[in-house]
Amino acid sequence: MNSQFYVTTPIYYVNAEPHIGHAYSTIVADVLTRFYSLAGLETFFLTGTDEHGDKIVSAAETSGQTPKEYVDRISGLFRTLWPKLNISNDYFVRTTDTGHQDTVRFILNRVNENGDIYFSEYEGLYCFGCERFYTERELVDGKCPDHQTEPEVIKESNYFFRMSKYQDWLIDHIRQNPGFIRPERYKNEVLSFLKEPLEDLCISRPKSRLTWGITLPFDENFVTYVWFDALINYVSAMGYPDGEGFKHFWPSAQHIIAKDILKPHGIYWPCMLKSAGIEPYQHLNVHGYWNVNEGKMSKSIGNVVRPLDLVDIYGLDAFRYFLMRDMVFGLDSEFSEQGLVGRINADLANDLGNLVSRSLTMVHKYFKGELPEPGPSEVADEELRAATLELVDRYEELMKGLGFHKALMAIWEVIGKLNKYIDTMEPWVLAKSDRERLGTVLFHIIEPLKTVAALIWPFMPESAEKIQGQLGLSKKGRDFVLEDLRVWGKERPVRAMQKAPALFPRIEPKKQEDPAKKEKKKVPEKEIPLISFDEFQKMDLRIGTIRKAEAIPGSKKLIKLTVDIGEERTVVAGLVGHYTEEDLVDKQVVLVTNLEPVKLMGVESHGMVLAAEDESGVHVLVPDVKTAPGSKVK
Ligand code: MSP
Repeated sequence: MNSQFYVTTPIYYVNAEPHIGHAYSTIVADVLTRFYSLAGLETFFLTGTDEHGDKIVSAAETSGQTPKEYVDRISGLFRTLWPKLNISNDYFVRTTDTGHQDTVRFILNRVNENGDIYFSEYEGLYCFGCERFYTERELVDGKCPDHQTEPEVIKESNYFFRMSKYQDWLIDHIRQNPGFIRPERYKNEVLSFLKEPLEDLCISRPKSRLTWGITLPFDENFVTYVWFDALINYVSAMGYPDGEGFKHFWPSAQHIIAKDILKPHGIYWPCMLKSAGIEPYQHLNVHGYWNVNEGKMSKSIGNVVRPLDLVDIYGLDAFRYFLMRDMVFGLDSEFSEQGLVGRINADLANDLGNLVSRSLTMVHKYFKGELPEPGPSEVADEELRAATLELVDRYEELMKGLGFHKALMAIWEVIGKLNKYIDTMEPWVLAKSDRERLGTVLFHIIEPLKTVAALIWPFMPESAEKIQGQLGLSKKGRDFVLEDLRVWGKERPVRAMQKAPALFPRIEPKKQEDPAKKEKKKVPEKEIPLISFDEFQKMDLRIGTIRKAEAIPGSKKLIKLTVDIGEERTVVAGLVGHYTEEDLVDKQVVLVTNLEPVKLMGVESHGMVLAAEDESGVHVLVPDVKTAPGSKVK
């Protein structure tokens, strides 16, 4: 493994204020940086703003400012937002920086010297919103898929980058480096795009049309196309070509982007790097979109969710936790304030917050904050120890593979075990009968809690450090390394532990639910019809193991499952958005097997998977331990 880690976010356009989509990418990069620092790597985290091009000029005009005044102002909004979200970036790059502009000109010269730039007349369909030419094939009903406007025919002489020359190399590189573009679906999307011949990329704009850009080093009548300019930020910020930072960190580079900018990052950028004689990046990590009310966030619809509004109400760590827990990296997610409140109350206030406060209260009440050496351990203690040590390995693997929601689920599994352990061990009873055992039990609560605090730090730095302080540990936050957590009993409290005030106060859900929805959820008890035992017996419930999970084209909710109940059944379930296909495979479920078959989205369903729904989402019912497929549920 590399001993460095270099991560970047997209550099955001300064034509709009930051929203939760920008916040998500940047928080992901922050979480990864903090994680790799726990893993003992030297890290560098870059973000910034993209400030050239038509769009910026028109936004500046609308606000009555010069482009320079305008970009300084909006770039400032991003720059001052990040510390408020506890973003630990090492540098903030702007495409209007002189250093960046020098690097762009240097690379343009290099690519030109390589014979990869030519001048030619081009007539094509141009979308002003996207600032790029479209091919007929890329349009949907003759319109730009992003802006739903018809592109204009433009005939112009311009400079072109010979991207087509690198098509075969790129296909090979993607095939030979399976994690180059991940998750898999986006790699496939790029490969499928590369099945058609690649067109060369128009990389200039005549100054007669646009002056707000970087002048080409070999023709002062043209400025550089925004994407050719912007992508170079990832190396210019590191001082390419001569900077030590570039040499040191570039071999470990990973980019974080959303699916909207897959093509420039998955195709243009590797070809540009190849032509300039720079090694390709290590990973392109592509996530989905946060949607609001099942649609795209947009200023014109007025549904833009601003991060600070939420942070002010719910707290920063709750906001960071929610974004990381609720989005499956790679898939789209629906943002709702109810979902956020549900998570805060269930995971943070109930599970984690209660655990910390009840544990520390006991250590205080029974031992004045200082635990004695533990005595001999029992089976339940050993199980907890094993689960905690295993968690560290699982967490590391999941985090490296961008499985953030799963890493959090794994931590919460241990939190659940700890709460259960307390309930079973009943320390309050031991306090009256066996103080030595009481000390041992509390030791087995505090040790895993120490691990939990260290592992949640990348996600919730402030809360983790608070817990670490309350636990009386000498190390906090980034001082920890995963290795510390692999040795049971290492880094024990050095000071007396403190009583913990509520970390995450419960939030009363807003009473503004859609009345129709409410009725569906809460049927008053007296309206539930009684059934006889014989009637219940008519229902055939079986344990099944999911063997296959496949998306149903065109369906937003339904997924096709092949479930093994001793024989294989095809079942359609409304689990999209709650589970990924890979989450479902091998999972055990409870299946109603004797429902009449029904055709859903063209697929015949022979059964129904049982699931429960609350504010935090849909959760399938799973047997407590692995159970033979086909077993009857009574
Ligand atoms: N300036 C270019 C990027 C150049 S990088 C060399 C750009 N800027 S942008 O302001 O439009 O930012 C796009 C990025 O913002 C997405 O790729 C994603 O990281 C983030 N998001 C914007 N809206 C989003 C959602 N609704 N959901 C999740 N992320 C989104 O493109």
